[in-house]
Amino acid sequence: MQPARVLWDSSIGKKVVMAVTGLVLVAYLVTHVVANLLVFEGPGRINSYAALLHGTGGALWGARLVLIVAVALHVVAAVQLARRQQAARPVGYAAGRAPQASTFASRTIRWGGALILVFLVYHILHFTTGTLHPSFVELNPHHNVATGFRNPLVALFYVVAMAAVGLHLYHGVWSSGRSLGLSPPSPQPLQRRLALLLALFVWLGFTAIVVGALAGIVA
Ligand code: HEM
Repeated sequence: MQPARVLWDSSIGKKVVMAVTGLVLVAYLVTHVVANLLVFEGPGRINSYAALLHGTGGALWGARLVLIVAVALHVVAAVQLARRQQAARPVGYAAGRAPQASTFASRTIRWGGALILVFLVYHILHFTTGTLHPSFVELNPHHNVATGFRNPLVALFYVVAMAAVGLHLYHGVWSSGRSLGLSPPSPQPLQRRLALLLALFVWLGFTAIVVGALAGIVA
């Protein structure tokens, strides 16, 4: 059998695929939040950045292809691992299991992931194609972001989705490190400084943009 097939068929192989694709997506998210924070500087820099990206044509589509493949592999591996886990223990523990070293983030990783997927579909229709944006202007992310959160329900949806993204990152970044053997087993499994810093940065950065637009600071 092909080595890639052997890796994909094993549970640890799927965890490695989830870790590697997850880290690709984290790199995108960190770049994405930094780029979007430019919205606070007015239209100049963020709109030039968008023009630069869209002007590259092939490179933009190359990056999109990497993201699509990463999301697809991440989701398929997650669903298959969840099914295997379910098949291995179809009946839950008789006595209620008190969480040992788990966190709220780890216990909500699957529902959070599903919410992020729904968010992503909405988000692309909102800010990339403009289909669900009330006044979308092509290549004008400053205007699109400033006006895109005027509806409080849309802003609320983003705030909830960004909390899910932060929690997902907090558990996901730590767990990728473990799957790839980058961080050794620790006597203090709840101490995850890098995961916490990344999660806080992405969550607070995106949430600040939504709140800034809603409050009229980004206008
Ligand atoms: C407040 C939060 C966010 C804001 C303001 C925001 C803003 C934007 C904007 C303005 C675009 C269009 C860019 C362009 O066409 O030039 C965009 C595209 C996109 N965003 Fe976000 N984003 C946010 C959160 C997220 C999150 C959390 C994710 C992933 C989970 C994400 C993933 C994407 C993707 C995949 C695209 C499509 C990129 C492309 O067209 O190639 N965004 N975002």
